[in-house]
Amino acid sequence: MYAVFPVMLALLVVIAPASSDAFAAELTSPSPNGLTIPKGYKKWKLVGISHRKDNESLRAILGNAVAHRAIRNGGTWNWPKGTILAKLVWKDRQHPQWPDAIIPGEQSHIEFMFKDPRKFASTGGWGYARWLGQKLEPYPDNGSECFACHTRVKDNDYVFTRPAPLP
Ligand code: HEC
Repeated sequence: MYAVFPVMLALLVVIAPASSDAFAAELTSPSPNGLTIPKGYKKWKLVGISHRKDNESLRAILGNAVAHRAIRNGGTWNWPKGTILAKLVWKDRQHPQWPDAIIPGEQSHIEFMFKDPRKFASTGGWGYARWLGQKLEPYPDNGSECFACHTRVKDNDYVFTRPAPLP
């Protein structure tokens, strides 16, 4: 009789957080530079999309409210403090009923750029972090590898994505 309670408690602990999106950020470990997955990022609006032919993956680039305000005001060459850009990456998959259509398959990683010119002065004003796979394991980099490649677009405030054109 008494032995049943710890088992039930353990089950509750395992089941409850997994069923709720709200806990997603808390369940994952921070990146090596201390950043965490922003809560609510799944509800952010689209900034752009891209397809990498070399590693066959689809990407959605999303932005938080600060990012979208900057886009509306035309300030994407100098994103304001508080901007967060997300990139969600999936392996390519063929649509089962329409093989020429490429659709998102398994999620490969998610990554973020956090704008704070003072806090992240040594990496161009952006903090970088990535989490891998279904388990969202932190990627072992403090942002320096990311920054090294993103300096190619220094003149665009280290951001590759241009907001997708709309009429
Ligand atoms: C070898 C080059 C390279 C490295 C290393 C790299 N990126 Fe990027 N990143 C890109 C390119 C190219 C894009 C835009 C197109 C795409 O990938 O879909 C991009 C886009 C992004 C975006 C969307 C905003 C933007 O700039 O367009 C985020 C967020 C991002 N990267 C985060 C990271 C993080 C975090 C890391 C390190 C863990 C990282 N990147 C490492 C090349 C790189």
